[in-house]
Amino acid sequence: MPTLTLTEVKITPLDAPLGAVVTGLDASQSVAPEVILQLKQALRDRHILIFKNQQLTDEQFLNFAFYFGSLFVPPQDIPVLASEPGVTPVIIPVSNVDGGYTGTGELTFHSDHHWTPYPSSGSLLYALEVPVEGGDTSWLNLNLAYETLDESTKKRIADLQLITYNPFLQDRNAPRSNYRLDQSIPLISPVFPHPLVRTHPESGKKILYLGYKTEVEVVGLDPQEGAELIAYLRQHLNQPQFYYQHKWSVGDIVYWDNQATLHHRQAFDPKERRVMKRISLAGSRPF
Ligand code: OGA
Ligand code: MN
Repeated sequence: MPTLTLTEVKITPLDAPLGAVVTGLDASQSVAPEVILQLKQALRDRHILIFKNQQLTDEQFLNFAFYFGSLFVPPQDIPVLASEPGVTPVIIPVSNVDGGYTGTGELTFHSDHHWTPYPSSGSLLYALEVPVEGGDTSWLNLNLAYETLDESTKKRIADLQLITYNPFLQDRNAPRSNYRLDQSIPLISPVFPHPLVRTHPESGKKILYLGYKTEVEVVGLDPQEGAELIAYLRQHLNQPQFYYQHKWSVGDIVYWDNQATLHHRQAFDPKERRVMKRISLAGSRPF
């Protein structure tokens, strides 16, 4: 009898408000249907999946990602991370070296492509080189953030629409506003209001669909009132009990649900190297 060397795929929930670790899976190979279904269910339940010890070519990384959906492609006229007019790389180098993107600074809590008409459903980030210290990524559970609001706030925000302004249209050196108070500044590009309270397209769970710092505007509210409401919601969002902080190891792939989480990156020492690759998957119109 030949010995069977099948490793068993294990999905272990983290002792945290979101996240599960997946071991025993080789993402460079084809994955069994029942395993894919378990991973999709685990993503719905835990919002981020952490795959350990992977070693993939770009083609293998793409083939693995496409089990979960097709590639996010922004509309031609909407700039996003790493896009040149009309073209966006399929795999984005998220790296502080060799012409990569996102540098070494803090990235405040956000959901990828929030400012586009059909934001990304999820992203996969694959770690090739990691700093000794710093550069951790945290993911925040937006369903928990919503559920822990008081009832009167939930009622007040139930039907509001939020515009999130595209940070890639802003002058990098201009001072940043986190609410559009001055309505007289002409808009240079179309905007895409989405529900502030979003329903997850698969789980049906309600989430507070709001980034932490990006410039926003609540449609139809007096600017001062809108700014106060958003400041209140952002203060509520930013609580450690809602998030999990990940210290990267080489070979980790984290696949997160942009429809259920925000993510944040800690700054790190520019003398260190941090080399990652990101694939973002297509999503649908938020409702
Ligand atoms: C991203 C991102 C965070 C990180 O790639 O979308 O926000 O930890 N990256 O590099
Ligand atoms: Mn991001």
